[in-house]
Amino acid sequence: MTEAGFDALWSALAPVGRDSRSGGYRRFAWTGEDLALREWFASEATSRGLDVTLDRAGNQWAWWGDPDRDGPGVVTGSHLDSVPDGGAYDGPLGVVSSLLAVDALRARGVVPARPLGIVCFGDEEGARFGIACAGSRLVTGALDSDRARALTDDDGTTMAEAMTTAGVVDPAHVGRDDEAVSRIGTFVELHVEQGRGLVDRDAAVGVASAIWPHGRWRVDLAGEANHAGTTRLVDRRDPMLDLARLVLAAREQAERHDALATVGRVRVTPNGTNAVPSSVQAWLDARGAAAGDVRALVAAVAAEVGTEPVEESWTPETEFDPALRDRLAGVLNGAPVLPTGAGHDAGILSGAGIPTAMLFVRNPTGVSHSPAEHAERVDCLAGVDALTDVLEDLLR
Ligand code: GLV
Ligand code: MN
Ligand code: MN
Repeated sequence: MTEAGFDALWSALAPVGRDSRSGGYRRFAWTGEDLALREWFASEATSRGLDVTLDRAGNQWAWWGDPDRDGPGVVTGSHLDSVPDGGAYDGPLGVVSSLLAVDALRARGVVPARPLGIVCFGDEEGARFGIACAGSRLVTGALDSDRARALTDDDGTTMAEAMTTAGVVDPAHVGRDDEAVSRIGTFVELHVEQGRGLVDRDAAVGVASAIWPHGRWRVDLAGEANHAGTTRLVDRRDPMLDLARLVLAAREQAERHDALATVGRVRVTPNGTNAVPSSVQAWLDARGAAAGDVRALVAAVAAEVGTEPVEESWTPETEFDPALRDRLAGVLNGAPVLPTGAGHDAGILSGAGIPTAMLFVRNPTGVSHSPAEHAERVDCLAGVDALTDVLEDLLR
């Protein structure tokens, strides 16, 4: 694996969707940036002689070999979309590493005994329409297509309208695709680590054991719009006070339940400096090692705020296939095995019954979902080598 090969792919992606002020990425589903990334992936795959297809959820697949004739295959890949002001590595590192692993397998003269696929899942972060892993949930049937079509972004555009504008898939036909899923015999996703577990273990690459159970809840807080200069405090119905209670309760209950809770997104209506808001919507992200603790945390927050949160998504604990996990760790000479609190398409595929594993690449600061997210190039190259070793083993 050459540094030049990595740099060529990385630098082609670098400008797409980069916000010049924050230095972070804004790559949202079914936008112009999404289309540019899809074109980049299709062109890189085609130039390698891979067969590029789309499934009914709009995820992109690139096959070396014919999964319908000789499958199911071994699949690797990740996603190219981002959170608002996301880092460069979350998602793209897995896609770039997959393309480079194909190059490396060929350079090694590997003749795969089964087809190898690279998947580029759409809308993993759910940054625009709120549902994380929308592409993998849709294709596996974990997200109902009617519900997906009706999801709206902050401008009120539905996912169906966004799909129509993008012109990649017809929203009328979007949904579960058993044929596409049946082509996956095994799935391995390489991802930048989103914590410092590998720093602590002094390792460039690790293997995932599990993903914590996690979910997203919307909390609707009603108020009464009024004038900031003339409305007496006692006469106000100010939903910002409920928001403040929500944020503090989330923190307190997370500590109490040994879990994590985040209020990272709010929508204030009408959002004027000199007006009491008429309403606030806030999103609570909660995660933890034990599902019961996460559920209890959310219930306690709801009780304190006096509003029933709307569950927008829930992902139960993912325990990755133990035999596959051990096989990967063995191929990688005893690489460390560690869990994560971050969600991934790999978790959705595992939940659909597909033997699934993940590789993590060291993140020196642990920072992620931020422009400051980073991985050293030498570790990225070690990740490509590790993925290549693992794929070579699985393709035997
Ligand atoms: C996805 O990155 C998530 O964990 O929210
Ligand atoms: Mn992410
Ligand atoms: Mn990711």
